Amino acid sequence: MTIIGIAGSLRKNSFNAGLLRAAAEVVSADTRLEILSIRDVPLYDGDVEETTGVPASVQQIKDRVASADGLLLVSPEYNNSIPGVFKNAIDWMSRPAMDIGRVFVGRPVALIGATPGMGGTLLAQAAWLPVFRTLQMRPWFGGRLSVSNARQSFDAQGNLTDEKVRGRLKTFVSGFEVFIRGKQE
Ligand code: FNR
Repeated sequence: MTIIGIAGSLRKNSFNAGLLRAAAEVVSADTRLEILSIRDVPLYDGDVEETTGVPASVQQIKDRVASADGLLLVSPEYNNSIPGVFKNAIDWMSRPAMDIGRVFVGRPVALIGATPGMGGTLLAQAAWLPVFRTLQMRPWFGGRLSVSNARQSFDAQGNLTDEKVRGRLKTFVSGFEVFIRGKQE
């Protein structure tokens, strides 16, 4: 099975990108977690869409997600909500609307996040819910992973160093894999 993982930060030493790398290390042997970057996704511009269509960088991500079994989003929290760069990428991916069925509808999705703050990205995670609903995705609610005080759990390069968090991450990812395989409601 293939899960596409996307982190919503462009920062080199991003905690969220590090959390995603760690997730890729704890998937089960028969699962591949493929990490995609949103770095090359431009700002959404309706005129660009109308004249030249969806940019190649977006099309590539769309096609990978469309052929995957599930999607793992690793979201920072900005001002108690979704970071603009991350929302922008998903917005581009939802165009043209006739592709939403192929890319998003019914696709299993799970959400995790890390923050140096106390709130564990929970408000950002809640802010994603209307997006999942609008795109008719199939969110997994069986687990929750929100890493607070990230500076204590990651090194300066954003690598996860906290074995407790790694254990929680493994449990989370395993649960999501079971959900994708359809063994669990
Ligand atoms: C933040 N940060 C932040 N953290 C948080 O827990 N709740 C919040 O509402 C905000 N708001 C916020 C706004 C803006 C504009 C920035 C730039 C940052 C801090 C944020 O969690 C921190 O920068 C993380 O390091 C971002 O994730 P990455 O880049 O490490 O993955």
